[in-house]
Amino acid sequence: MAYRIFLQTFGCQMNEYDSELVRSLLKARGFAFTEDQEEADVILMNTCAIREHAHNRVFSHLAKLKTLKRQRNLVVGVLGCMAQNLKTELTETQPLVDVLVGPDGYRRLPDLLISAIEHQAKGLAVDLSEYETYEQILPDRAAGVNAWIAVMRGCDNFCTFCVVPYTRGRERSRNPEGIIEEAQELAGRGYKQITLLGQNVNSYQYGTWDFARLITAVADVPGIQRVRFTSPHPKDFPPALLDAVAGHPHICRQIHLPVQSGNNRVLAGMGRCYTRKEYVGLVDNIRRRADIALSTDIISGFCGETENEYMDTYGLVQEIEYHSAFIFKYSERKNTIAARKYPDDVPEPVKSQRVTRLVELQKTISVRKNMALLGETVHVLVEGNAKKSRDQWMGHTESNVTVVWEKNHTATQPGDFVSIQVTDATASTLYGTPVSPFPLKGVEKRNSLVSKCLGP
Ligand code: 5AD
Ligand code: SF4
Repeated sequence: MAYRIFLQTFGCQMNEYDSELVRSLLKARGFAFTEDQEEADVILMNTCAIREHAHNRVFSHLAKLKTLKRQRNLVVGVLGCMAQNLKTELTETQPLVDVLVGPDGYRRLPDLLISAIEHQAKGLAVDLSEYETYEQILPDRAAGVNAWIAVMRGCDNFCTFCVVPYTRGRERSRNPEGIIEEAQELAGRGYKQITLLGQNVNSYQYGTWDFARLITAVADVPGIQRVRFTSPHPKDFPPALLDAVAGHPHICRQIHLPVQSGNNRVLAGMGRCYTRKEYVGLVDNIRRRADIALSTDIISGFCGETENEYMDTYGLVQEIEYHSAFIFKYSERKNTIAARKYPDDVPEPVKSQRVTRLVELQKTISVRKNMALLGETVHVLVEGNAKKSRDQWMGHTESNVTVVWEKNHTATQPGDFVSIQVTDATASTLYGTPVSPFPLKGVEKRNSLVSKCLGP
């Protein structure tokens, strides 16, 4: 009988994608997967090291596995960024971990697991590679409407707070041919939306192919209706990419543009290579071109951040009015430049209240933006059941706002595009009712984010 694997994924979309690669690699070698931890022969955790919170979650899961491992033969594997970052610490302090595999070592995972199961051998694959892009491996994706494709791996930016360059290694891009073939295969299986992933996605370069050319080629694949990407670095946002976002009917007019801070001293300390003025200039440029929804990442309480410096970030959020923002408390990561150079000196309660104040501010902005859509009709890709009720559908607008509505039209299916008239809104969700003609089979209504009601 095939060995059964329970795989749990923590962290970002790139980790979700890597778990799909891992499933594919293991299935090809005859492993089976189970949703039930109790019946698994192997428990794998694909981990994230970006902040302390993610890190602590993995340690508390490992603690729970101790009892399970005492009761029966069980192989435990830690994959991903924590495996890479904490190899010595994990091998020394966590004897229950049998296999440790970093983000560039997944091709070795099947053999290491077999040795661990059949010969109780410990396994380690934590070398970083300058070349590994998992070419030729088709991720094992659950059926659906959305798919991710990693187009480049690693990061050469070395923002001082960030562990990614150490856990995922140097930047390398995938051959565009393989990416386009994968997009065609996805379109053939009914996927409608593709998100191109990379730690520093606009650094994509393969021969003469840059990211603007790549995203255009993916968006040209027949059947793919929406293409998104995450995350670009603001220091080198190429004009050709903006042309593609503003002009291509299948590239969503939505950009996630991490700012991290609105203060120049903090930005310099973070090694972000742009000033507040340059970032605002880029935003102005983007907004002059088209109605493009913007979201961002912000870190509060970075080393030495004063109240005034924090207020510069607060003011920037007020000025730019993002659609949404992810706001994080600075969390010192071992071996990063910031950990070596600067003291982590903003007290914990101050960090927390700075995060809370920004979250509250962003909430009021998001509510205002969403409330402005009351009575308007938005075009939505139907993705599946709403989280809270199977009697409701859930999808997203082109600007990536969640929309929920009652399932009163039986013909609707995931993958359809529907027009929804907005009747209610919160900071995160629009609620509404379907508008005829309904649904729009396989067609994305473009190219306004919101249009007036079409009528019957
Ligand atoms: N502390 C807090 N947030 C961090 N991020 C990256 N490293 C850290 C850290 N050490 C955030 C950044 C990045 C997002 C993915 O995670 O905002 O854009
Ligand atoms: Fe980390 Fe900066 Fe690279 Fe993003 S660009 S992954 S924040 S080092």
